[in-house]
Amino acid sequence: WVLMVTAQTPTNIAVIKYWGKRDEKLILPINDSISVTLDPSHLCTTTSVAVSPDFTHDRMWLNGKEISLSGGRFQNCLREIRSRASEVEDDEKGIKITKKDWEKLHVHIASYNNFPTAAGLASSAAGFACLVFSLAKLMNLKEDQSKLSAIARQGSGSACRSLYGGFVKWIMGKEENGSDSMAVQLADENHWDDLVIIIAVVSSRQKETSSTSGMLETVETSMLIQHRAKEVVPKRIIQMEEAIKNRDFPSFAHLACADSNQFHAVCLDTTPPIFYMNDTSHRIISCVEKWNRSEGTPQVAYTFDAGPNAVLISHNRKTAAHLLQRLLFYFPPNSDTDLNSYVIGDKTI
Ligand code: DP6
Repeated sequence: WVLMVTAQTPTNIAVIKYWGKRDEKLILPINDSISVTLDPSHLCTTTSVAVSPDFTHDRMWLNGKEISLSGGRFQNCLREIRSRASEVEDDEKGIKITKKDWEKLHVHIASYNNFPTAAGLASSAAGFACLVFSLAKLMNLKEDQSKLSAIARQGSGSACRSLYGGFVKWIMGKEENGSDSMAVQLADENHWDDLVIIIAVVSSRQKETSSTSGMLETVETSMLIQHRAKEVVPKRIIQMEEAIKNRDFPSFAHLACADSNQFHAVCLDTTPPIFYMNDTSHRIISCVEKWNRSEGTPQVAYTFDAGPNAVLISHNRKTAAHLLQRLLFYFPPNSDTDLNSYVIGDKTI
């Protein structure tokens, strides 16, 4: 027999960034962060997990290609889930798996991204969130979503925020064992559904410095990071929560842009400096800043993760349509810039 579960998880984009760990193994951050989860029909991971007495070891395929599971992060997640597994009974198939059986049974995992993995957008967030969620369903975990988010966190920090839709906060927590470092939902996906997200794919190349090693180098060498984590982010978190609650786009846009810029400033303050944005990214920022200034009030927010691709959040569909027109005018796909495609976070545009 084979028992299988399939789940789908969207990726999330941080508007107040996580950058820096206080514990590398447990993946505990030095500050809270806030993100918005994308619509599941865009940029999401679909994962199927299966268990059978015929499986002789744990195996995983990513986009059809088998990958090694020797990494500590994957093993940590699997161990956490296995230790909480409970009895499963499927009368139709005549299957009964006891708590004890789970210790010996092996799983096969197949994961697909609905976007090109090479596009530099494939954050590990959707991947680990989906893996943890589907394994938790297969092994019949009784834990609530927050507890699952704390397990996904041990796969990749940003993954803990993808367990919820809408706006999500990852509370850094204080405990040394990480038990209080988990995600909570600030507002669901219907709360502010006018927002439209457009991702301008500036480069599809793999980033040179991974988030994991980049943030480690920043914590070890940057003086600015401590100021950011202790002084700046705590205040911004409160302001951002307020802006989201009130659907206050000007404050939301101001905070998101300022936080993205400060995150890239601490990257630059790292030794050796880390450059995630390129000339095209900078030109997009100038373009949005000029437009926002000419309108007198922000129309669009920008935020950049550990790479040059721009995530642009517009106020509503009308501004999203204007934004797209502008982008296509200034940055036509396949022109001399390396900007090559747009992913639109709303299928009606
Ligand atoms: C810039 O979650 O990929 O996207 O915890 O080491 O796996 P690890 O790092 P990761 O870092 C994401 C960093 C970021 C900001 C964010 O998503 O908050």
